[in-house]
Amino acid sequence: METNKGVIFDLDGVIVDTAKFHFLAWRKLANDLGFDFTKEQNEQLKGVSREDSLKKILDWGELELSKTEFKRQMALKNENYLSYVAKMDEDEILPGVQEVIDYLIENNVPFALGSASKNARNILKKINLLDKFDAIVDGTDVSKAKPDPEVFLIAAEALNIKPENSIVFEDSVAGVQAANNANMISIGIGEQKTLGEANYVFTDFTEIDIEFIKKLLTK
Ligand code: BG6
Ligand code: MG
Repeated sequence: METNKGVIFDLDGVIVDTAKFHFLAWRKLANDLGFDFTKEQNEQLKGVSREDSLKKILDWGELELSKTEFKRQMALKNENYLSYVAKMDEDEILPGVQEVIDYLIENNVPFALGSASKNARNILKKINLLDKFDAIVDGTDVSKAKPDPEVFLIAAEALNIKPENSIVFEDSVAGVQAANNANMISIGIGEQKTLGEANYVFTDFTEIDIEFIKKLLTK
């Protein structure tokens, strides 16, 4: 296929449903500290770095922690989160995702990962996708969190694709905003009422017709 476009995938909540593991682990942390937060509040944590997530949660619980305790809580959360990740294998790849990836590979369309997670490589390895990406940009490569466009701009540059020719799949509000801020084509994966700022929204990848992808790529 003749295309000057490239694709950038978010990881958590797009390729795998690790968003539910993040929620469980953050909720346990909050509960252990004596408070709770809702699923609606959790939407604000999606796409947000580990550190910023903890800051938000502590705000909700009206708690302040010392630097040492803050670090300890982040480590505990990650340990708990990784206990879920440890059980993952390629069956965890969300329905319809593999088909899109296979289509991109068959048609020589470059694609990258653009994730806030520092666990991204570990997870991609577990689901057997680590070697498939042309570039991986994750939480260890960026200094500015989504909605800052940094992560996606670095990914597009690594693919040698212009921002306006980059198509981003995102499940978080912050991520959709990051893609829009980068002047990229944003595709929200989730609910229209949450991700309405995206150029297109699909409930999940099974709703995406390969013809739609083809049209976007050849436009
Ligand atoms: C994002 C998730 O992909 O990565 C957030 O949507 C998470 O929920 C962030 O906090 C950082 O992930 P990690 O794995 O480095 O704690
Ligand atoms: Mg996500």
